[in-house]
Amino acid sequence: MEKTFRNYEAPDVKFTVREHYRKMRTYQTLEYVRSMHKKYLRYDRPMNLWEAMDHLNELIDVSDPDLDLPNVQHLIQSAEAIRHDQRPDWMQLVGLIHDLGKVMFLWGSDEDGTSQKEQWGMVGDVFAVGCTLPESCVYPEFNKLNPDMRHPVYSSELGIYEKHCGLDALILAWGHDEYLYQVLKNHKENRIPEAGMVMIRYHSFYPWHSGGSYQHFLTDKDKEYLNWIKDFNRYDLYTKSETLFDLEDVKDHYAPIAEKYLGDGPIYW
Ligand SMILES: [Fe+2]
Ligand SMILES: [Fe+2]
Repeated sequence: MEKTFRNYEAPDVKFTVREHYRKMRTYQTLEYVRSMHKKYLRYDRPMNLWEAMDHLNELIDVSDPDLDLPNVQHLIQSAEAIRHDQRPDWMQLVGLIHDLGKVMFLWGSDEDGTSQKEQWGMVGDVFAVGCTLPESCVYPEFNKLNPDMRHPVYSSELGIYEKHCGLDALILAWGHDEYLYQVLKNHKENRIPEAGMVMIRYHSFYPWHSGGSYQHFLTDKDKEYLNWIKDFNRYDLYTKSETLFDLEDVKDHYAPIAEKYLGDGPIYW
């Protein structure tokens, strides 16, 4: 039988996945996201790429109903699938690093959902804050728990945004996508092409890229974004398996690519 992914109603989906989304929907308000930007977008913690990868060996994503392995395994599986299909070297690198923003758990806390134990500010499908929550969110029954949905502006369709302002103008729920995107954007030696940066920034934005919501905010440019995301998403999703890799075994292939697009110095987190 073919394996299905992202079935959140399957009987064996753990209570923890649902609980994760209940908390995420409850606590990720516009104000919370702004405070996370202040906390994390400082770029004063130097750490090289491979060290960051090693830290993801310690982390299992509690929001993922499909995989129970350390996150670094998912990164290598994604990258190896992209490599197998002979896709461009930068895309292989994006596969390898796309979830690296989860290293925020090193500086995280239970209170703001960025720790090993509480991950609601770090992982899971994201949505825009400052405007109404769409029914395309997983477990839409939790939308009403968000205090912003009782705010006259933040609960409206346009919220704090303008019609067709474009995806880049939206403030998304805080998580590893935005963190890694901002860290790399700030990284002076970053040469990852725009498509790769978009893959990093929006891969968890399921209500948009898979749910079809937020049409009133989109521009022509975002149609291109959607093509890039769809292209990347199958490697993020359909490569999940129990096959284990050793980072050391694949480093020889990826290290030169990482150096080509990110330089050889530390990245400031
Ligand atoms: Fe991710
Ligand atoms: Fe991923």
